[in-house]
Amino acid sequence: MTYSKMEVKTSLLDNMIGVGDMVLLEPLSEDSFLENLKKRFDHNEIYTYIGSVVISLNPYRSLPIYTPDKVEEYRNRNFYELSPHIYALADEAYRSLRDQDKDQCILITGESGAGKTEASKLVMSYVAAVCGKGQEVNKVKEQLLQSNPVLEAFGNAKTVRNDNSSRFGKYMDIEFDFKGDPLGGVISNYLLEKSRVVKQPRGERNFHIFYQLLSGASDDMLKKLKLERDFSKYNYLSLDSATVSGLDDAANFRTVRNAMQIVGFMEDEMQSVLELVAAVLKLGNLDFKPESRCNGMDESRVKDKNDLKEMCELLGIEQSVLERAFSYRTVEAKMEKVSTTLNVAQAYYARDALAKNLYSRLFSWLVTRINESIRAQAKTRHKVMGVLDIYGFEIFEDNSFEQFIINYCNEKLQQIFIELTLREEQEEYVREGIEWTNIEYFNNAVICDLIENNQNGILAMLDEECLRPGTVTDETFLDKLNTICAEHQHFESRLNKNSKFLNDHSLPHNCFRIQHYAGKVLYRVEGFVDKNNDLLYRDLSQAMYKANHSLIKQLFPEGNPAKVNLKRPPTAGFQFRASVGTLMGNLQTKNPNYIRCIKPNDKKAAHIFTDSLVRHQVRYLGLMENVRVRRAGYAFRQAYEPCLERYKMLCKNTWPHWKGPARQGVEVLMTDLQVPAEEFAYGRSKIFIRNPRTLFFLEEKRKQCLEDLATLIQKIYRGWKCRSHFLLLKKSEIVVAAWYRRYAQQKKYQKIKHSTTVVQSYTRGWQARKLLRELKYQKKCEEAVTTIAAFWHGTQVRREYRKFFRANAGRKIYNFTIQRIMQKYFLGLKSNLPSMSPIDKSWPARPYSFLEGVHAELRRIFHLWRCKKYRSQFTEEKKAVYEEKLEASELFKDKKALYPSSVSQTFKGDYLEMVKNPKYQKLSSAIDEKILLADVVNKINRANGKVGSSPRLFLLTKKSVILADQKTGQVKTSLPLPDLSSVSTSTQSDGFFALKLKEGSSSAVKGDFLLSSDHLIEIVTKLHRISSLAADREKLNVDISDEFLVQFKQDKVCVKFIQGSPKNGNSVSCKRKNNRLLEVSVPTSP
Ligand SMILES: Nc1ncnc2c1ncn2[C@@H]1O[C@H](COP(=O)(O)OP(=O)(O)O)[C@@H](O)[C@H]1O
Ligand SMILES: [Mg+2]
Repeated sequence: MTYSKMEVKTSLLDNMIGVGDMVLLEPLSEDSFLENLKKRFDHNEIYTYIGSVVISLNPYRSLPIYTPDKVEEYRNRNFYELSPHIYALADEAYRSLRDQDKDQCILITGESGAGKTEASKLVMSYVAAVCGKGQEVNKVKEQLLQSNPVLEAFGNAKTVRNDNSSRFGKYMDIEFDFKGDPLGGVISNYLLEKSRVVKQPRGERNFHIFYQLLSGASDDMLKKLKLERDFSKYNYLSLDSATVSGLDDAANFRTVRNAMQIVGFMEDEMQSVLELVAAVLKLGNLDFKPESRCNGMDESRVKDKNDLKEMCELLGIEQSVLERAFSYRTVEAKMEKVSTTLNVAQAYYARDALAKNLYSRLFSWLVTRINESIRAQAKTRHKVMGVLDIYGFEIFEDNSFEQFIINYCNEKLQQIFIELTLREEQEEYVREGIEWTNIEYFNNAVICDLIENNQNGILAMLDEECLRPGTVTDETFLDKLNTICAEHQHFESRLNKNSKFLNDHSLPHNCFRIQHYAGKVLYRVEGFVDKNNDLLYRDLSQAMYKANHSLIKQLFPEGNPAKVNLKRPPTAGFQFRASVGTLMGNLQTKNPNYIRCIKPNDKKAAHIFTDSLVRHQVRYLGLMENVRVRRAGYAFRQAYEPCLERYKMLCKNTWPHWKGPARQGVEVLMTDLQVPAEEFAYGRSKIFIRNPRTLFFLEEKRKQCLEDLATLIQKIYRGWKCRSHFLLLKKSEIVVAAWYRRYAQQKKYQKIKHSTTVVQSYTRGWQARKLLRELKYQKKCEEAVTTIAAFWHGTQVRREYRKFFRANAGRKIYNFTIQRIMQKYFLGLKSNLPSMSPIDKSWPARPYSFLEGVHAELRRIFHLWRCKKYRSQFTEEKKAVYEEKLEASELFKDKKALYPSSVSQTFKGDYLEMVKNPKYQKLSSAIDEKILLADVVNKINRANGKVGSSPRLFLLTKKSVILADQKTGQVKTSLPLPDLSSVSTSTQSDGFFALKLKEGSSSAVKGDFLLSSDHLIEIVTKLHRISSLAADREKLNVDISDEFLVQFKQDKVCVKFIQGSPKNGNSVSCKRKNNRLLEVSVPTSP
């Protein structure tokens, strides 16, 4: 596939499977013809040409040959340029219409199911794809294309041959403007097969729309139409093939409604149409029963009136009117109305006739309505392309009037085909200036004549029978045929005058047989008369006309009582013949394009090619004759340009370029090739080749030549490729070598350079070092000289100046140095002096050892000076206090344990405040001397040694010690100081002291006093001081010892101080042990 896709085709002859054009078939025989078709069919090539006629085989499956890409491929290409395709034909037709202003018609023929309708759609879609674009144009295209689904729904049905068989003939004129843009279209329909409405052959079904409506409509819509979804509820719908596989009725219903909308149907119009369809279904359900009348005749009555009622409601018909129409019929004759009753059979006949008429008129109305929408608006002249898709030739088991009519139509088409192809061929010969030779072919004009001849044609005789008064039956009609057509070669009947068929049992008595161009067909005469009459009782059409439903009214105009027409309406046969006549007239004015469809098998199956079936079709379609006619004179023709282009390589003069006119080139070519002169002829624009053999000879030569050329090209190409490869290698080799050499030289050079540098550096180093050694030596020499010179100069100078130094320099320097040192020492000392506190012991360290003495002396002086400074700030009293304190220190320091605690106490002297205290007023006044100390002391009882029993006031004056009673203030004892010999205290912390009296003094009567005071130190110190100050007296002794003697009266008692035991607490206790011993126990620590 990809291979063939890559190739660019320039001719039908390229990559041909079999032959693409049957005209080139060699040898030409029916077998080879079929073989060629089959071969191509097997390779998916369903299209084959006979000249410009396209044969199409139905593939029965979708092939990928209708894509937009394909459309582009075939667009604007010449007919023979690409492999056969329906698009090529469509393109050719469209282009001659657009460019040459020729009206075209596309005639599609073939059996039912051969693919005619599909082909017509393909042509239309191709034209739609290639013609102009734009909003308006697209709308027209859409409407034209969408008319198909609508007509197919109402006019197509499933038959045994085709699931979507068109049951009407259709001819559509598509109108274009001068640019080739579509303007609109007109559709003509031919003879809808209306008998299908009421009865369908086995395996077939009614028109699609009935099934589509029932399966696709919403529940709501069905209710409105008074229908039920179940097919089996309707007598007119045969059940055996109600659903067709591959057909989705419901979806198609939506498609149809959508298409109707696009085409331009109003919503109410669509509703009316569906109401009519529903009415037909209802009509089918009407049943009749006989009712005996008094005159002994049976009269028909509607059995179940429900369906009738519903139908009348749907169509707005008065029920009684319709009911009556099924029981009576009115015959008008000579201004008289006669009413006759209908029997049951006649009632059924009337019912079916009404149904068929309703449906077929509805169909015709649809076509008219579509035409209203799609017809071109502009009145300007336009070009027309007609597409004819008409039912194909039909041969059934049971053939009736319809088949007869259809086959007649096909005969006519065949005739036009023969006429037009021959004429075309002839015209081309004339056009090209080539002599015409007559050809033998079968002309079916004789068969057409048998059917349509005005005097004794079958149709004319049928009409005659129908119009004849008296009893007319199908048999009388057959009799007539038997007499009149007896001699005709193509007419066969058992009861013929011509006894040839008397014993032909394949020919029943009630039948006649016609030898159509496509084969013999046996027709049963039954129904011919009725169908031709196509009668609808006037009562029925009048009932319809009275309906309150605008569409129905329109469909039955003859029911209008105002327009009673006594003339019989034209018969169906007559009408058909007339319309076929117009159609043929129409077609003959146009340029025909043929598509001949062939059905490959009866099974609707893909890939099956039934030889006999195809052979039959090939025969009756006259395809062989077609080829023969085409080949009669010259089988192949081609315009000069493409011909020269294709074969120019066969001659040296024309290869590779021919500079003159193409015709001359072809002539040169043909002469050079020595083709016999009778084998070809030169036309005006084309060369005509008589025999396909010649063409194949040319083709063969061309192939050979192409192969040689290919070899040549290959050879040259290979040589060129090898050479250029070699050159490239050579060039590369030089480049590589150059680079390598360069690289090697570079390396070598670098090595030499490096070695040179090394050698050079060594030499330079050696030279430099040598130089350096020399320079160093030189420098040393210079230095030595300089040093020697310096020393020498030094010596000289010193020698000269020695006399100036000798005298006092040493002393001066020494003095100066000492001075400086001293200065520095004093200044340092000054700034480093210790504080002014006399107790501060610090002193700066001595800097030099020779200053030892000075330093110590300065320290002593400084200390004295600061003591003096300190003392000089004292007052007289304070000085006295300090003197006392000093004395106390001299007396007690390091001797008595009590002393340290007294240091901090000031010596107040007067503890009792004698002067101020009024208590002692008397006492103080009694003492005329100044009291130096007043205190309370405890006197130790001499007898028992008890303390505290008799506290005494202790007063000290300059002359005496006075002891007074504490309470009374009465002087107890006054001791003149000179009487005191000494004072004794212990070494311990107690406050005991003994005042010892001089022996023999006046005071010594009672003995010594042992007292205890809190201010012992002060008392003793003051006593001592007073005594020392008095010049006339000797100093008072102060004894400090832990054992001393006291004189108590006569006894000398030893007072002994001991360490007290803790049980006595902290207080001092005193105890007289005996006459000799008084023990004072003192606590260890105060
Ligand atoms: N070119 C085609 N490609 C694919 N299928 C086709 C083609 N032509 C026809 N058929 C099939 O064959 C069936 C019958 O074709 P149709 O055109 O309806 O026949 P006719 O109109 O001749 O009775 C179509 O429904 C379709 O399935
Ligand atoms: Mg069809």
